[in-house]
Amino acid sequence: MSIDQQDDFEGMKRIGTIVANCLALLKVAARPGMTTAELDEMAGRYLESQGAISAPKSVYKFPGYVCLSLEKSAAHGIPDGTKIQEGDLLNIDVSAHKDGFYADNGESIVVGQGAPEKQFLCKAVNQALDVALRSARAGAPIASMGKKVEKMARNYGLTVIQNLGGHGIGRSLHEAPEFIPSFHDRRDKRVFSNNQVVAIEPFLSNGATWIEQADDGWTLFHPKYYTAQREHTVMITKSQPYIFTQPDTSFD
Ligand code: CO
Ligand code: CO
Repeated sequence: MSIDQQDDFEGMKRIGTIVANCLALLKVAARPGMTTAELDEMAGRYLESQGAISAPKSVYKFPGYVCLSLEKSAAHGIPDGTKIQEGDLLNIDVSAHKDGFYADNGESIVVGQGAPEKQFLCKAVNQALDVALRSARAGAPIASMGKKVEKMARNYGLTVIQNLGGHGIGRSLHEAPEFIPSFHDRRDKRVFSNNQVVAIEPFLSNGATWIEQADDGWTLFHPKYYTAQREHTVMITKSQPYIFTQPDTSFD
């Protein structure tokens, strides 16, 4: 969507804050020994308390309130009875709607201690989102954002997942512009436009470039390598994008 009135901006800000608070809550709550289903229940209760509705559940009939992807799962992991282990890589991806506005916010974390390689991957993808957001401005080619992320990943000895990426958002979970890659696609001539609402989400890996779908019909994974993601829902401006998915509550 494009923000063309104050009401749109306020609506996006409300749902952006809710999904960001939900993500912050789950990050603090995630502990070794917990199941991903327990985290999902917590997310469901929080969203309900805020008058928000899970987007994957309501739009795609996803079997959970939020996507919780453990270890070599990169995205769309189904919450279940799997106990989270110390040092597990966990991606939390929260998307929801309220008053007709949708926001999407994701982050990969290492639960508990250890796992320096996974910690490094999480740090790198956080930085990749910063790099992406710095080049996402009105009039700038979408392809040059991908080019910068790809370069950064290469400098760290990491790879970019080519078949996962960002998307337009706002009046629905996924809308135009479709597929915003985090690599340099020379054929992509699109440019960002002023007031455009997009979810920017690089996925970096310690070796994978392509993610597969599991037999459960949802989970996206790589059999060998780890993948981490970081995602914000933003409004493109002539300077820095405005980030809607900022928490206003601390659960520490
Ligand atoms: Co997401
Ligand atoms: Co998204």
